[in-house]
Amino acid sequence: MSTTLYPPLNLRIITPKLELHGATDELLAQLLPIVRKGVVAGPLDPFDDPMSLYEDNPVRERKWLQAIWRGRGTVSPGSWRLYFVVMLDGQAVGMQDLIGVDFDTCRTVASFSWLAPGIRRQGLGREMRAAILHLAFEGLGAAEAASEAFFDNPASNRVSGSMGYQPNGSNWATRRGEPAVLNRWRLGRGDWAQNRRSDIELIGVEACKAVLYIK
Ligand SMILES: CC(C)(COP(=O)(O)OP(=O)(O)OC[C@H]1O[C@@H](n2cnc3c(N)ncnc32)[C@H](O)[C@@H]1OP(=O)(O)O)[C@@H](O)C(=O)NCCC(=O)NCCS
Repeated sequence: MSTTLYPPLNLRIITPKLELHGATDELLAQLLPIVRKGVVAGPLDPFDDPMSLYEDNPVRERKWLQAIWRGRGTVSPGSWRLYFVVMLDGQAVGMQDLIGVDFDTCRTVASFSWLAPGIRRQGLGREMRAAILHLAFEGLGAAEAASEAFFDNPASNRVSGSMGYQPNGSNWATRRGEPAVLNRWRLGRGDWAQNRRSDIELIGVEACKAVLYIK
């Protein structure tokens, strides 16, 4: 696919610690060894169903790629998803997605992320969330960002809590078919603005607005 046909593949978000690059097939190929080895590590199942990353190889990688390709092609004014590969010192190490939810009417977004198991708990999760929030609020004019994490996922809940999100109730969801409680979080534009970062650079945003139906 030519990146000129789908501008989100040209998007870049640059922070002092890491970069988020639009998830081209070339970058997905660089991430594939991590997906093959396994993103779900240890006793914690962090993702709600359905989730390709719970599958065994080779179904895992096929479904993972198919979901991303489907997401590129499933865009409407109220619903879209942008996929980014997390780049650390030039290496692909994880994914950070931004999901438009009723964006045309409510300007709300959600996010989703994972890092290679070996590089967690070094502050990268917070940094990539700050990067994607900068795109959402500064770049695309979001009004509110939501996040959800299972009650026993301290890393994701802590990222949300420490970045100013407020608790917003809970939901039930399944993981590998078993029900569990998801904590819900919300971050309003005003709360984001209070801790707004001035060291994050956005590249390629304007060219994306038309394909996302953003005025
Ligand atoms: C969620 C994830 C992206 C967070 O990235 P990370 O780099 O590990 O997180 P950070 O190092 O930025 O840590 C953020 C906070 O969580 C805390 N934390 C991280 N891992 C923790 C753990 N296992 N137990 C307790 N606290 C933890 C950190 O101490 C830090 O707290 P602080 O803000 O008070 O300093 C990463 O852990 C991951 O890929 N997890 C598996 C997939 C996942 O859960 N995705 C989210 C699904 S909702």
